[in-house]
Amino acid sequence: MPAGLKFPAFQAIVGDLVETPGAVAKVIAFAGHKGGTGKSLLAQGFAVQAARNSHSVVLVDLDIDQQTSFEWAQARLLNKYKPKVCAALIDPAAHSDFGLGTARLGFDVMVVDAPGWSDERTLRLAAIADLMVLPATPTVADLRPTIRLMHELKGQGIPDSRDVIAFNHVRAARELTFARTYLKEAGLAALPKSIRELLGYRTLQNVGRGITEAAVATVKKEAKEMMVLIDKMLQEAGPPQTEERFKLEEERFSLTASPSAGKPKKRR
Ligand SMILES: Nc1ncnc2c1ncn2[C@@H]1O[C@H](COP(=O)(O)OP(=O)(O)O)[C@@H](O)[C@H]1O
Ligand SMILES: [Mg+2]
Repeated sequence: MPAGLKFPAFQAIVGDLVETPGAVAKVIAFAGHKGGTGKSLLAQGFAVQAARNSHSVVLVDLDIDQQTSFEWAQARLLNKYKPKVCAALIDPAAHSDFGLGTARLGFDVMVVDAPGWSDERTLRLAAIADLMVLPATPTVADLRPTIRLMHELKGQGIPDSRDVIAFNHVRAARELTFARTYLKEAGLAALPKSIRELLGYRTLQNVGRGITEAAVATVKKEAKEMMVLIDKMLQEAGPPQTEERFKLEEERFSLTASPSAGKPKKRR
């Protein structure tokens, strides 16, 4: 059967989708206003771990232009890595809920890799996701939009249990300390573990592997610790969002945060 018939929201599918009859997937989204923060890297890594935990998981790529995660899944399939990770491509413009309301039916976990939208689409995605992870580089350039977005999400009524910042691209303990202090001053915190910037992560991603599949024990440990923290948050987020949540037509989303949120500091 052609891909789109059984799963109308999916424009294309990699791999054989394994379903859990009657299941309603938890939706975890990796998102944020910036590009290059590691949304795709962490989404892929999380999808691998979810598949390893024998969940029926779909990695949903909402970036129909770049298709980073879709192509990553193709590489994984070609290289025959286990566990298999199925991926699907959705055109986010085709549905107000990005097609996730129907796409989540019949699966346990839906891992969404979002483009770096710096508009209300990120808020819309946050409204329907059970958990939204915002990867961030520990630099002011990344922290400021992330802080603003977190304030936006709060203003939108998203509880703290449903969004979280995860540091990625960490190059030194020093910059991590700086970034954690910067967040604290804005009344925010990130996950207590972080991911270093390492060539190894790029190499894994290039061939369709997840970050927890690193051969180097310390790298594998760091990646696993991050994934365990994220998974714990997803579990603690409670049962999947109700169907009502996905009916977004009537809702209005707009960015409102004052530009002073996360404003530049005189000295650092
Ligand atoms: N921790 C890391 N160490 C090394 N390279 C990384 C790391 N995280 C991401 N990258 C690389 O940075 C680039 C952007 O990452 P990606 O996950 O595609 O970000 P996004 O999806 O947020 O745009 C990719 O080339 C990726 O391989
Ligand atoms: Mg990406």
